[in-house]
Amino acid sequence: MQVVIQPDAEAIATLVADEIERLLRERPETVLGLATGSSPLAIYDELVRRHEAGRISFARSRAFMLDEYVGLPDDHPERYRNVIEREIAGRVDFAPGAVQGPDGNAEDIPAACAQYEAAIAGAGGVDLQILGIGSDGHIAFNEPGSSLASRTRIKTLTSQTRRDNARFFDGDVDAVPHHCLTQGLATIMSARHLVLVATGAGKAEAVHHLVEGPVSAMWPATVMQHHPRATVLLDAAAASRLQLGDYYREVFANKPAWQGL
Ligand code: GLP
Repeated sequence: MQVVIQPDAEAIATLVADEIERLLRERPETVLGLATGSSPLAIYDELVRRHEAGRISFARSRAFMLDEYVGLPDDHPERYRNVIEREIAGRVDFAPGAVQGPDGNAEDIPAACAQYEAAIAGAGGVDLQILGIGSDGHIAFNEPGSSLASRTRIKTLTSQTRRDNARFFDGDVDAVPHHCLTQGLATIMSARHLVLVATGAGKAEAVHHLVEGPVSAMWPATVMQHHPRATVLLDAAAASRLQLGDYYREVFANKPAWQGL
């Protein structure tokens, strides 16, 4: 696992956007994995800037979302499909239908989950998966206790996650759905490069477990320790509980330029 500690979210966004730009130039058909939440927003803004400057095009690429609430009306602003449209997809030049997410309003949920797995596999898998982390250590919506071998399925959100996400629902925790569809941990682990972003002291405990704790379903993000190419980008506050912070800084400062992110 590569740990990169940067001054702020903008510096992190520049590094991630550099890598995505490199991928899109090398192979315009690159498949991206998109996350919701506040953590990736600076990355999306930077990608939009580069798109508007004519540096990158998403016209031949595709993207898969990590998760979706169950039961929100199609036009609800916090439905993840609408969030992704607002924050990135609708601001760049993806082809119609090129961005997909699990269907949280499907009548047959298990069938919708299986179809979503097949769609990701049919696209050849995800090249670069952007991830945030929940304060309880979840990635996508794989809450504590999730099987490390899980695939896309329905999950029940913890009350902590519902409280954390109430800020997107005018502070009303009762408005946050109880259920979601989420890519499983094994689905996420199939992506070729995992890029997790965390900023702020509220993430320090989860980051400590993710990077330096034992692998455990109690802190689902720790499964990333088994991934051959996982990059964790942090600000100083999110990195504040890491034992080997100085070592990670030294490794990154001395990294050969040809290695990329
Ligand atoms: C949500 C999402 C996750 C996200 C997490 C952290 O629950 N399902 O994909 O990583 O929250 O969100 P934020 O980046 O806003 O802290």
